[in-house]
Amino acid sequence: MNRNKNLKVSIIMGSQSDFKTMKLTIKILKNLSVPNETKIISAHRTPNRMYEYALNAEKNNIGVIIAGAGGSAHLPGMIAALTHIPVLGVPMESKKLKGLDSLLSIAQMPRGIPVGTLAIGEDGAINAALLAASIIGNHNSLVKSKLISWRKSQTKSVKKIPK
Ligand code: RP5
Repeated sequence: MNRNKNLKVSIIMGSQSDFKTMKLTIKILKNLSVPNETKIISAHRTPNRMYEYALNAEKNNIGVIIAGAGGSAHLPGMIAALTHIPVLGVPMESKKLKGLDSLLSIAQMPRGIPVGTLAIGEDGAINAALLAASIIGNHNSLVKSKLISWRKSQTKSVKKIPK
């Protein structure tokens, strides 16, 4: 069996409060027919849940993990430390530092354990879905064709002359 064809994207986030941003990721993945699941996992509030999730990720057919986190955003890095599956981090726009804290926490992983870091907030949430779809699309022709169409229609939507 070619396991790669059935790989899903797993979206996790540190808190219910991240969902208003991360639901944009889910919307795009659904639009592109990318199999997906969503969970709340906090590195500091539910560490056992985090361990169990990361250690079983491969067995659960996860091909890409998208982790949204804010503040001292250690969730994506901790997950990446526990699994070889690619992790994309989405820095939440925090109240105190407008997401700069989240961005630096996720982007500044020391060498050896990478986390692919997206932009702060909604742009990052949307781009994480598009990037995950392009990774999954390497082994899933439906996702690949949907992603190509999505990009074509985005290109078409840009008017030549402003009104
Ligand atoms: C992080 O702390 C979460 O990812 C969230 O962005 C931030 C604030 O969480 P709440 O206090 O809103 O639950 O763990």
